[in-house]
Amino acid sequence: AETPSLVIAVDGTSGSGKSSTSRGVAERLGLRYLDTGAMFRAMTWWLLREGVDVRDGGAVAAAAGRPHIESGTDPLAPTITVDGSDVSVEIRGEDVTAAVSPVSAVPEVRALLLDLQRQVIADGGIVVEGRDIGSVVWPEAEVKVYLSADPDARAVRRAAEQGGTDVATTQQSLLERDRIDSGRATAPLTMAQGAVHVDSTHLTLPEVIDRIVALAEQAAAER
Ligand code: DC
Repeated sequence: AETPSLVIAVDGTSGSGKSSTSRGVAERLGLRYLDTGAMFRAMTWWLLREGVDVRDGGAVAAAAGRPHIESGTDPLAPTITVDGSDVSVEIRGEDVTAAVSPVSAVPEVRALLLDLQRQVIADGGIVVEGRDIGSVVWPEAEVKVYLSADPDARAVRRAAEQGGTDVATTQQSLLERDRIDSGRATAPLTMAQGAVHVDSTHLTLPEVIDRIVALAEQAAAER
């Protein structure tokens, strides 16, 4: 079955393998790819650079409308720009990672980025990864996946990605972000209605991709 206009939502905790999985699925099916976490990270990077106190929700809300954030949708070369400058590398820094969860909890930030996300998704044919895609951003997605993995597995993977940082410290930081992302009032991380739960703890990346591709082909056949 043809899958070109499908919207595939991939939500889950930090370090569950959402990015590699979502990019792999998009590549396999010839779909676009949107990393909504990168948008929250870009906002956070800009706030930090402007010297805004990221723990002050009011200050964050007041400033959030100023940066112009744009995401590319090529799964082979994801880009994210703020006011025209590519910040793909900067948004992975430790300072951004430590501040992004509190920034993402500010309703004004979510409302601004929600608009941008919906504009990109509107044409369909896209794999979108985040925390609230299947629940809030695009509840009508034809395929919804909730990706999880045990904290130990996530910490080991993420530490390796970061070039061998300490696993215990990495795990602490992952769990702290999960706590804030799942506990916030606006659009918390949750398993969306109709989502298929894929636990990647004991699966390889190609196995996870295969499962989601199969779900997409099934959804396309049922349309
Ligand atoms: O997926 P990631 O680790 O790059 O996301 C960074 C942060 O952005 C995450 O801790 C919570 C926030 N986020 C969100 O609140 N909603 C989304 N749809 C995506 C990310």
